[in-house]
Amino acid sequence: MKIQLRSQHPSKQIGLPGGPLELSWKVLGAHSGDTQLAYEIQSALDSEFSVSLKSDQAKSNASQYVKAPHVPMESREISYHRVRIETQSGWSDWSETLVHENGLLKGAELIGSAIGDDSKATDVPPLLRTSFEVTKPVAKARLYATAHGTYDVMINGAKAGNHILAPGWTPYQYRLLVDTHDVTNHLVEGENAFGVLLTDGWYRGKMSFFNLLDNYGEHTSFLGQIEIDYEDGTREIISTGTNWKTATGGVRFASIYDGTTMDMTMAQPAWCKPGFDDSAWKPVIERQIDKTLLEPLAAPPVRVKAELPMTLRHEADRVNLDGTQNISGWVRLTVDGKRGDKVVVRHAEILLPDKTLHTAPLRAAKATDTYILGKDGVQDLEPKHTFHGFQFADVVTEAKVVKAVAIAITSDNPDRAEFESSHKLLNKLHSNVLWSLRDNYVSIPTDCPQRDERLGWTGDAQAFIYAANTLVDENAFFRSWLKDLASEQTNDGKVPHVIPDILEMQYPRLEGGNPFPDNGAAGWGDAATVIPWAQYQSFGDVQILRNQLVSMRKWVDYFSDQCVDNVFGEGIMQLGDWLDPDAPEDKPFLAKVSSRFVASAYISHSARLVARAEELVGTKENSVKYQRLSDDVATATWNLLGSEARKTTSGCSLALEFRICPEAEREAVAAELAALVRKDKGAISTGFLGTPVIMDAMSQNGYFEEAYSMLLREEIRSWLYPITVGATTIWERWEAIKPDGTPSTGGSEGHAPGSEPSMISFNHYAYGAVVDWVYRNVLGLTSLAPGYRQVSIAPRPTKSIEWAKGSIETGYGKYSIDWKLDGSKLHAKVTVPFGVDAKLNLPVTEASTILVNGETKLNGEVLSHGSYDLDVTHAYVVSR
Ligand code: BGC
Repeated sequence: MKIQLRSQHPSKQIGLPGGPLELSWKVLGAHSGDTQLAYEIQSALDSEFSVSLKSDQAKSNASQYVKAPHVPMESREISYHRVRIETQSGWSDWSETLVHENGLLKGAELIGSAIGDDSKATDVPPLLRTSFEVTKPVAKARLYATAHGTYDVMINGAKAGNHILAPGWTPYQYRLLVDTHDVTNHLVEGENAFGVLLTDGWYRGKMSFFNLLDNYGEHTSFLGQIEIDYEDGTREIISTGTNWKTATGGVRFASIYDGTTMDMTMAQPAWCKPGFDDSAWKPVIERQIDKTLLEPLAAPPVRVKAELPMTLRHEADRVNLDGTQNISGWVRLTVDGKRGDKVVVRHAEILLPDKTLHTAPLRAAKATDTYILGKDGVQDLEPKHTFHGFQFADVVTEAKVVKAVAIAITSDNPDRAEFESSHKLLNKLHSNVLWSLRDNYVSIPTDCPQRDERLGWTGDAQAFIYAANTLVDENAFFRSWLKDLASEQTNDGKVPHVIPDILEMQYPRLEGGNPFPDNGAAGWGDAATVIPWAQYQSFGDVQILRNQLVSMRKWVDYFSDQCVDNVFGEGIMQLGDWLDPDAPEDKPFLAKVSSRFVASAYISHSARLVARAEELVGTKENSVKYQRLSDDVATATWNLLGSEARKTTSGCSLALEFRICPEAEREAVAAELAALVRKDKGAISTGFLGTPVIMDAMSQNGYFEEAYSMLLREEIRSWLYPITVGATTIWERWEAIKPDGTPSTGGSEGHAPGSEPSMISFNHYAYGAVVDWVYRNVLGLTSLAPGYRQVSIAPRPTKSIEWAKGSIETGYGKYSIDWKLDGSKLHAKVTVPFGVDAKLNLPVTEASTILVNGETKLNGEVLSHGSYDLDVTHAYVVSR
């Protein structure tokens, strides 16, 4: 038996926040039939478990988010934790040891002052440097660093760590993150160089479709220190301060939207190496960073996820590159040229029919990297502190393009799930959703990675959250973002459209003020309630409900205050079922279902989630109050708006999934929904808010035929159609590329002067929400209790899919299935992890028999952990 232990924090990350450690473990290789009867957790300050040993034993089967006996509260403290469990076979061995290292828990422990130069936004970004001596043997060394702006720290010529765009994007006026790196191996005896490249980043770079600079301030600055613990027990801190020097180098311009300009003839190649003469450099300028806002990074940072070779197609005046996958990132280009040669790389998500880059959807984002070569010969080129959303690029240069690699970046959430089937297009859909997730989780959950936007749109994150939770383990990522959501919420509870709320900061600077006055938007503001609840469901994380309860309540109070007689007020601007394909192209908020119905349905839904959260971590009284609100709004809404809403697919779906229509009418509403879908031959007619719920609204009510007709449809207005015209990610609009290959204009008001009016991204994940349904229904890996404590084995095969296999790495271990159809016989191999009960919910007809490892069983019976061979005769097979 083997036990794998982890905490709530990303594994292998150091410099974490202090406070309670929530431990979860997976048990591998337990005897069949054994269960966890008790656990023991030990914590200590040494790996031998002898210093300050603390131990907790409990007769309990809990294994997820269990508090460690030692609470690491000291800055820099390294603590060690392990667990063992008792089963019917006795006590296990200890798990592998989990090592937890705290960061600096008080901002003031970064002892230096923040430093920068006199540059302005879009100016040449500064290099900062100092040097120091190491004269004694080093036991260990840590770098703690943060910035107003984005930075790379270079020690003796090499980048410290592999974080990209550090310190990431948070509402800098409330919270600024500190990254920690182990830099022991960077240090050398004698002189050492400590250098920083500091760029505008999100802090003062061009942001949002208003394309404004200086959003958080006019000056970039860096604050950091290297702490050296010597073998003789002494500590030395090399911190930022007025003794540092500044100059500029090869990086002449760096912007997240626009790209990088690098003139390597101006580079100072040895600037961050020992022995460099910086006497010509200027003194730095001291700047202010409020140290009380500093916090250790607790979410996974942005890192490189993949390197994809690009194909080269040479034309007379350019070289065209294709990475075969739409990504967030950049091109690493190898060229053979001469000093002074210019290389210009432009990016786009798709090609126009004439094979040129389609850059109109980028709007005002230039997404162009420019280089001037600093030497002769073969050399690699990579931009700094930018990212582009692209599959294609073109290169204009007098140098020879030798090779190109697309570098894909993402917030480094571990992959959690696998899916494969005999249906090639469905496999591609799965891949496209996963890539849209990766491409759009860049420090925060964004809407799109390519145009002058890339903002933390709450509605997109909300619509996609269950799919995201199924695909990757991003609980730490969302714990962090939800913290920012709560801090950006107004006192009266309004949740901004985007987190961090860059728009609110920009409105006062616009002529005429806020062009989009809002009272909160249903489905967007509901990120405050839906996401914490989803995290609890998908990961079993109760703490996130405790963290967010006040924010959840405040949102429901704020939004429901706009009800008149328990129905959302009339005439209040809403985003509604955004991008309903039948809405006018330039008015994406004009969906078929009324936005008043949608807002009321969301109030009822969110109030129910708050009621359930109150029951778990709040008060009974509140739980009753919010449940009553939920019921009252549902009843009044259905009475007033139900008859109109049920004429639309989104209206029916929300009514069923959010329980707006009374029990007695469910059957009729479901039948009406199914009829609408049949009439449209499975064509999708829902927008951002209807799409995530329509498949369940059908299948939960028995309409699998209709659900599959929609899922597997290949004509336009479907999930698979984009794939037939080459999509490698999920589109913002169902009809983004027409069957004749021409892209839609995406007619919507462009906000930046000089940019085409266009709202058409080829990489928006909201519609990818369907993948969660695929896991639960095609594979049949369904969770019945928070964190997959109980699951059901519930595949619903259909004729077009001969086999499917996949898994979800739950907190308990891997839950997997591998099924195939042989006529009407279904055979499946299933693995249920330790600690999980799996209920049989197999696709049966009256004539079916179920065999589990050769033994007859009935649906509803429960299997404990282990591997099973399941056979179903006369299975129920959907005819699609
Ligand atoms: C974004 C969307 C977002 C919407 C709401 C768009 O510009 O890209 O995904 O949710 O605006 O207004």
